[in-house]
Amino acid sequence: MEQSQQQQQLRSVLVTGGAGFIGTHTVLQLLKEGFLVTIIDNLDNSVPEAVDRVRLLAGPKLSLNLRFFIGDLRNNEDLEKVFSDTKYDAVIHFAGLKAVGESVAKPSLYYNNNLIGTINLYEHMAKYGCKKVVFSSSATVYGQPEKIPCVEDFEPRAMNPYGRTKLYLEEIARDIQKADPEWRIILLRYFNPVGAHESGQIGEDPIGIPNNLMPYIQQVAVGRLPELNVYGYDYPTKDGSAIRDYIHVMDLADGHIAALQKLFTTEDIGCVAYNLGTGYGTSVLEMVAAFEKASGKKIPVKLCPRRSGDATAVFASTERAKKELGWSAKYGVEEMCRDQWKWASTNPYGYRPQS
Ligand code: NAD
Ligand code: UFG
Repeated sequence: MEQSQQQQQLRSVLVTGGAGFIGTHTVLQLLKEGFLVTIIDNLDNSVPEAVDRVRLLAGPKLSLNLRFFIGDLRNNEDLEKVFSDTKYDAVIHFAGLKAVGESVAKPSLYYNNNLIGTINLYEHMAKYGCKKVVFSSSATVYGQPEKIPCVEDFEPRAMNPYGRTKLYLEEIARDIQKADPEWRIILLRYFNPVGAHESGQIGEDPIGIPNNLMPYIQQVAVGRLPELNVYGYDYPTKDGSAIRDYIHVMDLADGHIAALQKLFTTEDIGCVAYNLGTGYGTSVLEMVAAFEKASGKKIPVKLCPRRSGDATAVFASTERAKKELGWSAKYGVEEMCRDQWKWASTNPYGYRPQS
């Protein structure tokens, strides 16, 4: 036990996109688990303050184990700088653009950033002999599922350019691993990440009007937006609104630690996908009610037509992650809303002071 803890303390992990929403929460957990962590992030969708807060939460001792490079995965010089002075045991690859609507308007930006950034990263990993990676995939690869729960073996599909980047990057990972079996790759398909660290010090801080449900609800609750548009009230569900599998971001963070342990201990893992979800579906109107309860705030809603491309109901099969990673989600919707409200109420304008 003591020896394995010591070995783990020496392990070094590169986290791309580590200044972002899921990245910050995962970096904090990695530090707490005794990893040495290096972040590379170009701050396209994040701010240095987020990393400063992670340092504060980790405390003076553990924060010495965190390094932060501002850099872009598409820039070889930035990657050379990050790889040339440290030997990493593994990479967690979060960096990418993720807004579905923007990807439809600017497909080449998405293909350029997500595909070229990732290929560049893998080339540098191979060059420097680091062949273990946990990749951020998404439930988006299930498209509008014909059956639920979504099982990892379903044929992947994509509904938009963002989804296609995830689909192609999963395929690229499989090809790379097939060509060189030394690679060990885990593709984590996140369902709907929400919530925040229980301290309320770090959380999701989207730029502009939020696209996703929970950040939108949060901004209505703090008075930044007047009401929530509920997209679709005639779905064949219990209350007519669409159903998703919301997962607490701290559960996701722990899922990454479980995936890393799996990579370190399983020589023949190959390239394998795992769902990270709770296995439970919650409707939009149920999420609104849960957030109202957690915050004590009324969320005015306007019932609107369905959003194009949205599925009726999506939730995860959690069996494979439970069986093979020994991981399952601990938190429910109540804790997700409680912690998101703590973040929202203490930081109504996120990391940026109100301008
Ligand atoms: P985020 O935008 O908060 O974090 C991504 C980070 O990557 C940002 O800090 C951004 O500045 C950085 N980045 C982007 N392109 C980069 C580049 N070329 N070089 C260096 N840094 C770059 O997003 P998130 O919610 O934390 O998501 C992390 C990953 O998980 C993404 O790949 C996303 O597609 C995936 N994912 C997210 C969700 C979700 O709903 N949040 C769901 C499924 C999958
Ligand atoms: N919704 C509203 N009003 C809003 C925002 C969302 O009613 O203002 C509804 C949507 O119509 C949907 C549900 O809330 O029914 C959830 O929507 P989100 O945009 O929060 O999440 P999605 O499930 O549509 O998609 C998100 C990402 C995808 C990713 C997926 C799973 O945008 O890229 O989660 O990870 F694939």
